[in-house]
Amino acid sequence: MKYLTPGPVQLPRFVIEAMARQPPFHRSDEFKKLFKSVLEKLGALYPSRPIVMPGTGTLAVDVMIYNYVNPGEKVLALVYGEFGKRAVETAKIRGANVVEVERDAPPAPDEVEDVLRKDPAIKAVLLIHNETSTGIAYKQMKQLINVAKTYGALLLVDSVSGFPAEPLPPGVDVVATASHKALLAPPGASILYLASEPRATAGVPPSMDLRRFLKTMEHLETPYTPPIPVLFALDASLSYILELGARYTDVHRERVEYLYSSLRLRPIPPPETRSVTVTAFHCEKPKEVVSKLREGGYVVAGGMYKYRDRSVRIGVMGDVAMEDLKKVVEIVNGLA
Ligand SMILES: Cc1ncc(COP(=O)(O)O)c(C=O)c1O
Repeated sequence: MKYLTPGPVQLPRFVIEAMARQPPFHRSDEFKKLFKSVLEKLGALYPSRPIVMPGTGTLAVDVMIYNYVNPGEKVLALVYGEFGKRAVETAKIRGANVVEVERDAPPAPDEVEDVLRKDPAIKAVLLIHNETSTGIAYKQMKQLINVAKTYGALLLVDSVSGFPAEPLPPGVDVVATASHKALLAPPGASILYLASEPRATAGVPPSMDLRRFLKTMEHLETPYTPPIPVLFALDASLSYILELGARYTDVHRERVEYLYSSLRLRPIPPPETRSVTVTAFHCEKPKEVVSKLREGGYVVAGGMYKYRDRSVRIGVMGDVAMEDLKKVVEIVNGLA
């Protein structure tokens, strides 16, 4: 069976082999060496301060919101899918006053600027860089970064299924991601990039408190037990990703463009908003498509958000070959 899901992704053999070993004690020099290597490689991927903690994508997003938004503060949330809704849910539970702008396609930077200009009380803009439920990526990040800076709002970005394949310009205040999607490792590590200091005044549980992580990181340690096997896997996958450089995005884009131009299904995202890591298609009988592909040896995902029972999603991250995508197209088009 091969996984063409939006994560966890199909791992290359060398990544699986890198973690098949005894985890060292996390207060040892051996661990520090590993941790240093992973942090340096993460730092080479995006110009900001990386943090690694045990958890998944959801935890990374929750940690971002709890450490950067205080109860009662106003947050502008851009929503164009299920994960945008989930981020809003966390912000509300945190006690934030959330202004939600929900659209089929991401609100343009001009629209965001309009909202920020009219409401100077907004402290942060929260958005999904790569909305996995609809296959939509926010492509105007550069302009959005400038808008947020101009109005003194923090930019809090969920890039759980985008980073580091979907391009992300420098300058985002906080990025939340995870090990098991485009970072090409198994689930188990929540990863954040911090360009500004955590600003929570209270109410952050110890396991989510970024200040504790930053303090122990000075000595190449973690406050609590880290996901050691995932770190070994990441050390290997990050070397591979760094070696590919910009090609890493290109190979994903080639796969996505092939699916959008070959499958006889109607794409959900408009062309100018298409993610390079996850494709999403309208589909009248998603269960039939998913089960036929499974018979052919491929696991893909059903729909989410308002397209829940009427779409399929095919992820192109991980150890995916064009041959696999050709087979998927053959199977799906054979059903039509
Ligand atoms: C954009 C986005 N945010 C958050 C999450 C949640 O991640 P996890 O399921 O690892 O907790 C996902 C998972 O698919 C996601 O795609």
